[in-house]
Amino acid sequence: MKRLIKKIGFLELIVFVITLVLVTQQGESYPSYKIYEHKIQDTKLAESIARGEEIYVDFCMQCHLPNGKGTPNVFPPLAGSDWLINKRKESIHSIKYGLNGPIQVNGKPYNSAMTPLGLEDEEIADVMNYIMNSWGNTQKKMVTTQEVADIKK
Ligand code: HEC
Repeated sequence: MKRLIKKIGFLELIVFVITLVLVTQQGESYPSYKIYEHKIQDTKLAESIARGEEIYVDFCMQCHLPNGKGTPNVFPPLAGSDWLINKRKESIHSIKYGLNGPIQVNGKPYNSAMTPLGLEDEEIADVMNYIMNSWGNTQKKMVTTQEVADIKK
């Protein structure tokens, strides 16, 4: 009888070790889960950009133009704009609350006004994702509705 228990104990030990190995290997498959997370993130960004394009056409294009280049001395460019690339918060703020007074975009001065466009926070996030990922601009860190909501006057 004692010998039998000893035997079972040994078998249990083996089962335990095998389980341990399996669990450890599952732990190693964690990066593929992360890749999955990234894919969800990429899909969300792509969907936001697609919605943002419609907003751009309706609300921004008449000034910043279809190619995002704006009009020299009058409407600043969004394509390759150092302002947009470096001033993420200010860009969201300008779309949300408007912008006026002197600014420099890519070394050129502008001193005009952009009135607030009356967009919802989600629409602002979408149009930001569109302009930050168009005409050669690339910004993978997605603007979220929460990020827009957190920017106060
Ligand atoms: C009536 C014309 C007009 C419309 C419509 C307009 N803008 Fe602007 N935008 C301007 C002007 C003018 C400035 C510069 C304001 C200044 O000189 O202070 C500007 C500045 C900006 C800037 C910061 C400077 C830069 O070039 O990076 C961003 C970002 C921007 N606009 C995005 C948008 C987005 C997005 C929309 C649509 C939701 C939009 N604008 C609609 C005229 C417009």
